[in-house]
Amino acid sequence: MNSLRMRIAALLILAIVTVVALATLTASVILRRPGPEAAINLAAQQIKLMIDIGELDRLPNTIILPIQNNAGSGIPEREMTRLLSAALVNLDISRETIVTRQSSETALVSVKLAEGRWLVVTFPSLAPPPGALSGLLAWVSLIVLGSTAISLYAAAKITKPLAVIEGAVSSIDAKGEMRAIPETGPVEVRTTAEALNRLSKSLKLAMESRMRLVAAAGHDLRTPMTRMRLRAEFLPDDTDREKWLADLEELDHIADSAISLVREEIDGVTELVDLGIMLEDIVEGLSETSLPVQLLRKENVLVRGGTISLRRSLTNLIMNAATHGGGARVSIVRAGCHAVIWIEDSGPGIPEPLLSHVFEPFFRVDAARKKTFPGAGLGMAIAKEIIERLGGVVEVQNIMPTGLKQTVKLPLHSSS
Ligand SMILES: Nc1ncnc2c1ncn2[C@@H]1O[C@H](COP(=O)(O)OP(=O)(O)OP(=O)(O)O)[C@@H](O)[C@H]1O
Ligand SMILES: [Mg+2]
Repeated sequence: MNSLRMRIAALLILAIVTVVALATLTASVILRRPGPEAAINLAAQQIKLMIDIGELDRLPNTIILPIQNNAGSGIPEREMTRLLSAALVNLDISRETIVTRQSSETALVSVKLAEGRWLVVTFPSLAPPPGALSGLLAWVSLIVLGSTAISLYAAAKITKPLAVIEGAVSSIDAKGEMRAIPETGPVEVRTTAEALNRLSKSLKLAMESRMRLVAAAGHDLRTPMTRMRLRAEFLPDDTDREKWLADLEELDHIADSAISLVREEIDGVTELVDLGIMLEDIVEGLSETSLPVQLLRKENVLVRGGTISLRRSLTNLIMNAATHGGGARVSIVRAGCHAVIWIEDSGPGIPEPLLSHVFEPFFRVDAARKKTFPGAGLGMAIAKEIIERLGGVVEVQNIMPTGLKQTVKLPLHSSS
């Protein structure tokens, strides 16, 4: 009953049934037949008259009364018999009286006369016709069934444009693209569809311009970096020169990967990635820079995604365990239709009340910590965005006795 469609249908059913019920009630009051009580006294008076005549010593030849040896046949009408007997008693006539139904319109009234014979008179039937109740039930069921069918159809018709809009809005993908909504139908639906189509276009433009800005920043860094590299080449001290050149190399690499990441996002390039091999590679690379990282368990598991973005997100999480957590233990397994990666450390973990904020951009716990590591507070936010874009989830939890466990689940590629 939560959907708009069911609510409209229920409202329509209620409205139709109420209107028909009220109309039926009014009609039945206006067209009602007089109740049996009204007519029964008149019938009793006529019967009394006939009994009086029938029991006269000498009956004029012109008067022929319907007197016979037996009571009238037909289905006994108990209620009518009771009412008529009471009305006759009121007229001081206590005789055995039987009312029997002949047809839906006529009834026979039989009254026993003094000499044992029966006065049998035909009267219009005053009882409700047989089957009146089942007729009423059929009438009510027909109204309820008919109004339900009409209401469901009307509600489906009214809410159809909303379902189209809902489908289109939920089709907005990571690149901000939405399936175009047909701008047809009633004016309100048309205007909403136009507004949503416009919104989708501006959303796409905004996403692309954000990506272009990142790429431009990466690109523009190249010129000053080339100048710095030239200057570093002329440094007299060998060790100093080596260090400057290594740092510049890393900066170059970062600028490059920013540009490739943007390209991957804009082109929506995805490929089959073996997460086992990728993690082995990341762990090896980080170990070479003397970060405490080890791969405990490795399975070759295929997922679909962008190589650069996946590498970026997993590196961010492993780097956190290696730096903030003092050492990363990485495992990858296949569980059901998911690739599951655990990254554990034995560091201080994250205070429970702050755990829910850990994926927010620029969030850092370090303020009160003795040992802090440089960083912008963006690593986990970026990792989460990339993983969720691929239909995966990332979660963190503190572990006993101390440390943090980061879990990444990614949907397996169907053929793996
Ligand atoms: N394994 C961990 N153990 C303890 N604290 C952690 C761990 N991982 C993350 N944190 C806390 O969460 C904060 C946010 O992490 P995040 O990776 O987003 O940013 P960062 O590492 O500070 O900077 P960067 O943007 O360079 O990654 C960190 O500053 C740190 O305080
Ligand atoms: Mg980080």
